Amino acid sequence: MRLDKYLASYTRMSRKEARAAVRKGRAALDGERVFREDARVSEGMTVFLDGAVVHAEEYVYYMLNKPPGVVSATSDRTERTVLELVDTGGRRVFPVGRLDKDTTGLLILTDNGELAHRLLSPKYHVDKVYEFNYEGELVPDAARLAAEGLDIGEKHRTEPALLELPESRPHFARLTISEGKYHQVKRMVAKLGGHVTELRRVAFGGIVLDEILQPGEYRPLTEAEIDCLQHTGNSD
Ligand code: URA
Repeated sequence: MRLDKYLASYTRMSRKEARAAVRKGRAALDGERVFREDARVSEGMTVFLDGAVVHAEEYVYYMLNKPPGVVSATSDRTERTVLELVDTGGRRVFPVGRLDKDTTGLLILTDNGELAHRLLSPKYHVDKVYEFNYEGELVPDAARLAAEGLDIGEKHRTEPALLELPESRPHFARLTISEGKYHQVKRMVAKLGGHVTELRRVAFGGIVLDEILQPGEYRPLTEAEIDCLQHTGNSD
């Protein structure tokens, strides 16, 4: 593997940042400083960045189209869990966050605890996009109110959210939120006058649910998707 790719894969640097770091002489291979970003990292070599070893930790990442009726837990005494749907070849993965039992759509499973922690931390504003059908009528200024933040009975109002109400599809909407409070979408919609009847997550941190996956199906994330997750969110 090329040195810049190695650094971008196993640190939080982008490929561009990795190239710049190598050119500045911040990287070393087996203790020898290297300046070429295309230097080869072979099996068994130790890579250093700023004098510290960069470990090639191989984690696994899956995208599951969660079907209704299963819970987003690692174990449950009575319910079927999302882990029972995925063959990881023995890797102990866990879901990154939770979807309600009746919610469907994009759920990421990984054994990378550090990344999962960051993706779920309220400090990092990771966007989640939900599509839903609802009953009732939303208040006329629902999109503005969602953008301003809603009082859903928590200590703080919700963060600004994007509510899209396509005119061509009555009782269907899309909501983008950057946090993950308990039943957040359902509670926000209730506050706006509606009742969610079907909820599906279609994107998480820049990863879009693969339309090819039927409910209950999964696939490994691509390298580009993993890279996207590793660089998603900001802590402003
Ligand atoms: N918001 C909800 O209300 N339910 C979910 O499953 C996810 C977000």
